[in-house]
Amino acid sequence: MTNRTQSRSAYMEFAKLRSGARFNLASSGMAAFPLRELGVGIEQLEINGPDNYGYEPLKQAIAHRYRVAEECVVTAAGTSMANYLAMAACADPGDEVLIEQPTYGLLLDTARYLGLTVRRFQRPAARDFQVDLEDLKRSVSDRTKLIVLCNLHNPSSALLANDTLQEIGRIAGSVGARVLVDEVYLEMLWQSQPQSAVHVAPDAFISTNSLTKAYGLSGLRCGWALASPEVAERMWHINDLHGATAVYPAELLSVIAFSKLDEIAAKQKSVLNQNRRLLREVLESQSALEYFWPEHGTVVFPRLRSGNVEKFCERLKREYEISVVPGHFFEDPERIRIGVGGATEDVRDSLEQLRLALPELFS
Ligand SMILES: Cc1ncc(COP(=O)(O)O)c(C=O)c1O
Repeated sequence: MTNRTQSRSAYMEFAKLRSGARFNLASSGMAAFPLRELGVGIEQLEINGPDNYGYEPLKQAIAHRYRVAEECVVTAAGTSMANYLAMAACADPGDEVLIEQPTYGLLLDTARYLGLTVRRFQRPAARDFQVDLEDLKRSVSDRTKLIVLCNLHNPSSALLANDTLQEIGRIAGSVGARVLVDEVYLEMLWQSQPQSAVHVAPDAFISTNSLTKAYGLSGLRCGWALASPEVAERMWHINDLHGATAVYPAELLSVIAFSKLDEIAAKQKSVLNQNRRLLREVLESQSALEYFWPEHGTVVFPRLRSGNVEKFCERLKREYEISVVPGHFFEDPERIRIGVGGATEDVRDSLEQLRLALPELFS
């Protein structure tokens, strides 16, 4: 059992305090989408809105986009809060939660903060970070209340097929557990009618998401969960304990963003396609990193064929002004996470710098 008063997130502290650099390849989100491009007039904003369980037009926009009933939508401060609420709604202190390994550190930190007993199932690099279903079957028990994973996977961007999700739903159902799928990177498939795990089995799955990563709108804190009405109601009640109301101007801006999401997506998609081409060229031209190439997403999680990752990252930053995420933040100290969501000219410069650094650091 962790001591709640000592709770902190090593990854968040790294991301906020130490991930910056002239050549930033540490971020996983798309570059910020500016307010001026959203085409908002000040007369469309207001400070105070109705006190309610979610701003109706925003819930409607989300329900419409994901083709679910409005009572299945819970809005929250980012995917982060949605994940927290989902875990809190599905498991009591001491209950068991099964979390993929490797995973996004905040999922582990949040589960531990909530006093949940964390067990793991593997997404082996040797299987391109797909879920090891046999391992999952071995790991579930009558004590399991929740299975937690990301799709796309952070840190590898691996995509899970629907039949894999179906099987995970079946495994969870066999012990009466639910499945939480963080889909914040799934938006990078740029679908106008996005697929979600909740379409696979609405009662078994809870999906979480936001406008943060794919659309560059992190400042809106526009997150949500899709869940059965029963779980959604529990999440609303827990959310009450954390903030009486949401930030109304952000909700208004989020509704506007939803009305223009296809345009925003088209812009970000074209940026990411270019960036991914540049990244692939650099990865193909070097021999220091062994990598799985994902079909989507901003991040890759290559392994250093030799040498110490911590020292490598330190030299990369000190001598070449490049930041990447050391793999220990994602539970694999032999790897680094490289992200290419930034503006293409920045990503191009950063990757050129990396192309220069790799042979020099490994000669
Ligand atoms: C898997 C995953 N979920 C959630 C978040 C945070 O998203 P939000 O800004 O919507 O809280 C991140 C950020 O890195 C992430 O990688």
